[in-house]
Amino acid sequence: MSDMRNLKIRTVAVVGTGVIGASWAACFLAQGLDVSCTDPSAGAEDRLRAAIGRHWPSLEKLGLVAGASRERLRFSADLETALQGADFVQENGPENEQLKIDLFRRMDAVLPAHVILASSSSGLLMSKVQSACRHPERVLLGHPFNPPHMIPLVEVIGGQQTSVQAVQQAMDFYAAIGKRPIHPRKEVKGHIANRLQAALWREAFHLVEQGVATVSDIDTAIAYGPGLRWALMGPFVNLHLSGGEGGMRHLLDHLGPPIENWWADLGTPSITQALKEQIVAGVDQELDGTQQDLLTAERDQLLIGLLQAKAAAGNLP
Ligand SMILES: NC(=O)c1ccc[n+]([C@@H]2O[C@H](COP(=O)([O-])OP(=O)(O)OC[C@H]3O[C@@H](n4cnc5c(N)ncnc54)[C@H](O)[C@@H]3O)[C@@H](O)[C@H]2O)c1
Repeated sequence: MSDMRNLKIRTVAVVGTGVIGASWAACFLAQGLDVSCTDPSAGAEDRLRAAIGRHWPSLEKLGLVAGASRERLRFSADLETALQGADFVQENGPENEQLKIDLFRRMDAVLPAHVILASSSSGLLMSKVQSACRHPERVLLGHPFNPPHMIPLVEVIGGQQTSVQAVQQAMDFYAAIGKRPIHPRKEVKGHIANRLQAALWREAFHLVEQGVATVSDIDTAIAYGPGLRWALMGPFVNLHLSGGEGGMRHLLDHLGPPIENWWADLGTPSITQALKEQIVAGVDQELDGTQQDLLTAERDQLLIGLLQAKAAAGNLP
């Protein structure tokens, strides 16, 4: 909390309160911040308060900051009213470039120049999103992973006109509220983590298409194999440990050539209608009718335990 006082961020505006916005709002409230929300759709405030109610028990288990309260939420359907007094903005409107350009133009027009405007966008370039702003230097990406109230990673990157200071301030803010921000050095489609996921999905779809594995085999291979380690350490430290005493250097000398050989053999599938049907049927078969809310609840429960265990670990990066 002291870090945040240094940053002078006490009120966060959450613009757009769908899946991601509601989760961010819960996250900021749990950190003892005042949160001012806005969304133009009918019934948005009721849906937001209900979503925060659903997220709150997980946040209580993860630990609320002193003073954190759901009472510190306010809502206005009017954007400009909601932005009054905001020290930081987290935008979560629909993933539409023109809509975001216009939304950022409106936010930029009413907020003092030092207030950072961060977008949750999954794939839009900030160079475009900031293009109609008077103060584009404070516009940047703060890309979370669903659900942002539980997953620590945030990818922070500016557009061509964003200042280095704004990126640093956003990194500091996210770190101060317990996130693990990273800063991609270049604007690329999908940022970093979604590209890594896409690389894995590509081969998973390819292996199903080629009849090498069922959908369920792929899920077992990850969830009961390397996925267990990947939740604890990234792919490079994992490789380093696979190299034994010789570490990464030995591993690359020894297994680098076969890895390159596999790369050359990986597939580039298309999501054809036939493959789509195959994957959908495979997931249905794997889940055998288990309700989605049971799966989500169990996932969140295990995630809390994992996050707590990771926080208690001393040496893993
Ligand atoms: N869903 C994910 O897994 C995920 C993950 C990371 C980032 N994102 C990004 O987060 C953003 C929001 O995605 P979502 O999944 O929450 O979508 P969503 O459809 O659940 O929510 C979008 C919300 O924006 C509101 N809205 C519409 N017009 C608006 C306007 N002019 N001003 C403010 N709000 C407006 C809608 O009423 C809706 O509540 C997108 O940019 C998306 O790329 C999504």
